[in-house]
Amino acid sequence: MAANHRIGETVRVVVDGREVEALAGQTIAALLVSLGYRSFNRSKVSGSRRGLFCGQGVCFECEVTLGDGEKVRACVTPLEPGMVIRTDQGEGA
Ligand code: FES
Repeated sequence: MAANHRIGETVRVVVDGREVEALAGQTIAALLVSLGYRSFNRSKVSGSRRGLFCGQGVCFECEVTLGDGEKVRACVTPLEPGMVIRTDQGEGA
């Protein structure tokens, strides 16, 4: 977890192909909610939309895909500069 940032410092990341500015130290989930996202992925079984539920890393309902294909829990993953994040709202979803 990146912890060496100052209050008010920003990072640039890409969400579903859109470059956005976010607060350093903010979680992916906090950024997505601030952008208006409510759904982050879809259930592989039912196809229903999934998003924040526990908000503490337990349920895995908030998974998003990073640029390298890694799936992470948005609620416990802090933003890193240049991070590429894909949700079920993005292209090809
Ligand atoms: S909301 Fe439950 S793990 Fe993220």
